[in-house]
Amino acid sequence: MKSFKLGRALVHGFINYSHPKTLTFHNGHLSNGHIAQNSSASIDYFFFKSTFIRFLSTEASQSEIPNPNSLKKSVSGAEKQEIDRPKETGVVVSSYWGVMNQKIIKKDGTLWPWNCFKPWDAYTPDLSIDLSKHHVPKSFADKVAFRTVKLLRIPTDIFFQRRYGCRAMMLETVAAVPGMVGGLLLHLKSLRKFEHSGGWIKALLEEAENERMHLMTMVEVVKPKWYERLLVLIVQGIFFNAYFILYVLSPKLAHRIVGYLEEEAIHSYTEFLKDLDNGSIPNMAAPAIAIDYWMLPENATLKDVVTVIRADEAHHRDVNHFASDIQFQGKELKEAPAPLGYH
Ligand SMILES: [Fe+2]
Ligand SMILES: [Fe+2]
Repeated sequence: MKSFKLGRALVHGFINYSHPKTLTFHNGHLSNGHIAQNSSASIDYFFFKSTFIRFLSTEASQSEIPNPNSLKKSVSGAEKQEIDRPKETGVVVSSYWGVMNQKIIKKDGTLWPWNCFKPWDAYTPDLSIDLSKHHVPKSFADKVAFRTVKLLRIPTDIFFQRRYGCRAMMLETVAAVPGMVGGLLLHLKSLRKFEHSGGWIKALLEEAENERMHLMTMVEVVKPKWYERLLVLIVQGIFFNAYFILYVLSPKLAHRIVGYLEEEAIHSYTEFLKDLDNGSIPNMAAPAIAIDYWMLPENATLKDVVTVIRADEAHHRDVNHFASDIQFQGKELKEAPAPLGYH
């Protein structure tokens, strides 16, 4: 049907303006089986529930999606206001599907600026984590994993030397891959075997997301050059496929390698901090996204950001060595509780 026929469609508009209210979010970090840190953030927010416009006709197709401008002619007052909102953002079909973004107001009265994460995804990192822990390679597989990571470090050291901002940004493009691959493969396994994953799918996807937020932060600090973008493209193509195959063949080896990669990440960020301390890298103001994601003070600096990212890496190290240890004991991941929300 080429044209939208109003006679065949019934338009329902529901507008639900909720009153402003205050929510308190609690973020807890589990460290060594105990709640290490609790933080709360009160966020005044309100959201406009979307206008739902439903068409009873089952023949509705994309060509029948009405132009919101034409709909405005048939609505008035508050309804008009709702339909105007998506137009402001350039999204013209969200009012049709009822998919409207929540409008969140921060404590300082400004609008929550991020679409990539919400206030309840933010957390205060556990900086008390032991950064010096190291898994001593014992088995043959451990030694292979350890040597592999040490070998990978050689070209990285040659290419980046002490340009730690650039180095961190580039390495985060790799670091966010293993969690996603592991989560994906465990997801498929859960479907294939009709069984729960023990929370490990979510835990690994959380890790991937956390790593990606490291990247989103570092890219605010260092702008990648064209040849660095090209390098990321090549490295991602190789690393994703190599890690995918490795995880299919030996998840315990895959997690062990990531555990050692995280140990190297801690080392790199420690060197980064040294250069910030001695002034060879300027200690600029923290990017706004980092302040909101890690709930840092408004006057936070790059040094604070690197410190919290390093703490995240230490958590990833523990999770991946733990995952490998479980499998080295001949057990499946689902047999041990997954460390959800462990940053
Ligand atoms: Fe990272
Ligand atoms: Fe990491």
